[in-house]
Amino acid sequence: MRERLELLRSEGLASIAEAEAEVGLKAIEVELLGRKGAITGLLKTLGTLPAEERPGIGQFANQVKLELSGALVEKRQILASSALQAELAADGFDSSLPGPVGPRGGIHPINAVTRELEDLFLSMGFQVVDGPEVELEENNFDALNIPADHPARESHDTIWVTPEEQRSGDGSGVVLRTHTSPVQIRALRKYGAPLRVVAPGRVFRQETLDATHEHTFHQMEGLVVDKGVGVAHMLHAMNTLIEGVMGRKLETRLRPGFFPFVEPGFELDARCPFCKNGCKVCKGSGWIELMPGGLVHPNVLRACDLDPEEYSGYAFGLGLSRIVMLRYGIADIRWFMSGSLSFLGQFPA
Ligand code: DAH
Repeated sequence: MRERLELLRSEGLASIAEAEAEVGLKAIEVELLGRKGAITGLLKTLGTLPAEERPGIGQFANQVKLELSGALVEKRQILASSALQAELAADGFDSSLPGPVGPRGGIHPINAVTRELEDLFLSMGFQVVDGPEVELEENNFDALNIPADHPARESHDTIWVTPEEQRSGDGSGVVLRTHTSPVQIRALRKYGAPLRVVAPGRVFRQETLDATHEHTFHQMEGLVVDKGVGVAHMLHAMNTLIEGVMGRKLETRLRPGFFPFVEPGFELDARCPFCKNGCKVCKGSGWIELMPGGLVHPNVLRACDLDPEEYSGYAFGLGLSRIVMLRYGIADIRWFMSGSLSFLGQFPA
């Protein structure tokens, strides 16, 4: 059996060396090493040998198999590189032409608008700040003057990290932040006043999902605290922001709105950019609710060790996801987090 193996080896190596194309190599491989190949067949008869010869022959057979498959790999590389050389040397090949281009990534529309707005606010002397997505109850609620019995604190509105039975009500619970407003607290406690910041980021809520509600979405918080800050300053910042996002001035109006961390609080509406007298987007009213805001509540200033007699400020909470939908005419908020390439591919870099 050893002689037979030696013969298969030498013949095999010789025909591999002579092969001129991949098809030939494949045939040799099947013939020798395939399931019904010569060596495989030979190995099946190993059992007929005297027991003391079996291990030696078995080992030798494996060595032959390794040698042959190594030779096959080597020859394949040689054939591939000579095929490439031939192609390169052939007439009509121009190595200066660009190669095939793979699909290119783009910037997510939320990130694109976030970057634009960051630039805009940086140009107005604001800092861009960041806060954690997993936040203390204290920063998300208590320090923002949101009372213990406020509905936003319920488990059906907020995604809690701390289970209900472990919450002590002292602000030490942990939540996925429900808005970017806790960054107001973090920034004021860290930098004090005067302060001008914007804080874009992801927020999370327990929602029944539909075209305008998603459990994960984006907001951008704005906060200015200084001496003598009033509603006119706030309105100017809001109007500049809207002009920046929508690319033109829109008529705006303020309505009263309630948020525990501002007093007075407002809702800013803008004239619907899509119609003159009512359409689907503005639900016939001609106005679109764009952004809540207000003057920072004295309790918030106090919670951050500032004297409300000395300092005042304004804050606003832009629904980034919503404004990006408006700007690009995106009909369903769920596209943003869908990872769908047919959606994302519409926003090339
Ligand atoms: N944090 C509020 C929310 O998510 C939005 C908001 C309202 C932010 C008024 C503000 C503000 O800064 O002044 O519903």
